[in-house]
Amino acid sequence: MLFPYNQVQEAVAAIQVRTTLKPAVAIILGSGLGDLAAELENAVAVPYAEIPHFAQSTVSGHAGRLLLGMLEDVPVLVMQGRFHFYEGHSMAVLTLPVRVMRMLGAETLIVTNAAGGVNPAYQPGDFMLIRDHINLPGLAGANPLIGPNEERFGERFPAIAHAYDAQLNALAYEVAAERSTITLHEGIYTMVAGPSFETPAELRFLRTIGTDAVGMSTVPEVIVARHMQMRVLGISLITNKATGEETGEASHAEVLETANSVRPKFAALVRGIVRKMQGA
Ligand code: 6GU
Repeated sequence: MLFPYNQVQEAVAAIQVRTTLKPAVAIILGSGLGDLAAELENAVAVPYAEIPHFAQSTVSGHAGRLLLGMLEDVPVLVMQGRFHFYEGHSMAVLTLPVRVMRMLGAETLIVTNAAGGVNPAYQPGDFMLIRDHINLPGLAGANPLIGPNEERFGERFPAIAHAYDAQLNALAYEVAAERSTITLHEGIYTMVAGPSFETPAELRFLRTIGTDAVGMSTVPEVIVARHMQMRVLGISLITNKATGEETGEASHAEVLETANSVRPKFAALVRGIVRKMQGA
């Protein structure tokens, strides 16, 4: 079921009674990356429980609230704690926040996640700009736009080629060049449904089809953002190697541990990009 236009408006209205801030940029924070939220100035927090039609976030490492405030003199909305398909949410439920962000005024979406490094050159703690994605659940029938199309949101058959904005990626490279501790790759993000991690055979398959990083989020939000004509920047934090040749096994603890250790770097990267966006 997709949300009717008026229900999205109800969610928007509930936020607008809490703040007059009109966000220019919306930022979705992935696993363990929630700390950037603490860097907002004059932030107003709106818990999901107070927003009509919003779901609750159920994963450890994910708080459940929107923060609206200033970052580098830019009005931003930060989603601290996203929804995942593996939590049992429908694609419509997990992408409702993106519709709300756009209707609040945000024209740019910065979406982040923790991902496994399928590309053998990627190391835990590296970042990857998403150049393009492979939507495995979507190709198999779980696309967030399935259902009657709402023309006020966007067109029936949106193009998703060029979903990730090359100009925004260029800004990220500029920030990385100024900080020797940031290693930045650019590659293909493949979404799997999860919540089980992949088998070695599945990881070899993902590598064969051109995956550089694998994760359980992001792609539904990007599709809805593009449906609504937002500019999109996607950043994966590589939390663990996932080439299929590891001796150990992937774990959520490992994902959170790496995310924790790069928190300041990640915050600096996103801040720097937002700062440079003002000129671009
Ligand atoms: Cl979906 N898979 C693997 N192997 N590692 C990950 C991941 C997924 N997400 C974060 N790390």
